[in-house]
Amino acid sequence: MSGALTRPAVVSHVSDLIGRTPLLELATTETGSRLLLKLEMFNPTGTAKIRMARQMILDAEERGELRPGGRIIESTSGNTGLGLAVVAAERGYTFTAVVDHHACTDKLRAMKALGTELVYVDEDGGGEELATAAREELAEEMARGKDNTIFTEQHNNPSNGVGYFPVAHELHEALDGRIDVLIGAVGTGGALCGTTRELRKLIPEFATVGVEPKGSIAFGGPAHDYYQSGTGTPEGAEIGALVDFDLIDEGVKVGDVEAFATCRAVARTGLLIGGSAGGVVYEALTRLGTLPPGSTMVALINDGGEKYLDTVFDDAWMNARNLLDPAAEREIDELLTKLRRN
Ligand SMILES: Cc1ncc(COP(=O)(O)O)c(C=O)c1O
Repeated sequence: MSGALTRPAVVSHVSDLIGRTPLLELATTETGSRLLLKLEMFNPTGTAKIRMARQMILDAEERGELRPGGRIIESTSGNTGLGLAVVAAERGYTFTAVVDHHACTDKLRAMKALGTELVYVDEDGGGEELATAAREELAEEMARGKDNTIFTEQHNNPSNGVGYFPVAHELHEALDGRIDVLIGAVGTGGALCGTTRELRKLIPEFATVGVEPKGSIAFGGPAHDYYQSGTGTPEGAEIGALVDFDLIDEGVKVGDVEAFATCRAVARTGLLIGGSAGGVVYEALTRLGTLPPGSTMVALINDGGEKYLDTVFDDAWMNARNLLDPAAEREIDELLTKLRRN
């Protein structure tokens, strides 16, 4: 897959703009280590997930499960749905997203604008608890036995991982194979495990660190609700088939307070990142100084902060949930300032 970094000057489909996302050096240490952010919000829809959305559709077409005029159904917290909405629109499919009121409203409104039918699993308005398990049950039920209708089932669909293979090639090409640590959020596991699987073929020796919210169950620990959107495995949901523990050298948990404080501190460097990326960057910054001199750590940034202006970046919303922690923000600010000076 050479030439992963180039694209024609003019393209004819939005999905032709997927990939080739930039790398931003966020921090460096006195010992010459650096933290690079793979800015996946530069994909259409502002998130990495459109990579796997396209792959799931192309593979279903190839298997003959999806034919012209077909219908796609998926349970989504928003980002996967946005990707499916774009690719379905381009290829003439109907797309139904099974969602809940926990999802970020901007993602839901954008899907609707792109022509998606939204079906709420919690029609009464629900609470703020995650409804992942109920969403998946309903999506499966809606697709069962219907001709030319597929439930893409992102948690168990191998195409989800394959959709991220190009990320490995982009990184390998951009960094001349010099990657020591890859760190990223783990929800379905598609992004981190898919990238790792392909990258291990290109660079055998690097460590993969998975990050999930505190309260999520893939890496153990007590289960409870959390606000980092689109990531983790909430209690009651099955750990996805793509979460491959053999590919993840270390699994860590970051709380909402630290994750969101990091988003807010990073924003003051000029970059808006989403809540799950806040958790990843928090963990990355904490361990950057402990790496051998001259190391390169790459953090996968699943989406940007624009979708979270009413939540992570809204003081009243944060305060109402006891998530605002100015002292934690200051600490991260100071760490960032120090690491950006080197
Ligand atoms: C904002 C955000 N972060 C992290 C993830 C987790 O990525 P993955 O499902 O590939 O593990 C997702 C997935 O939807 C997401 O939308």
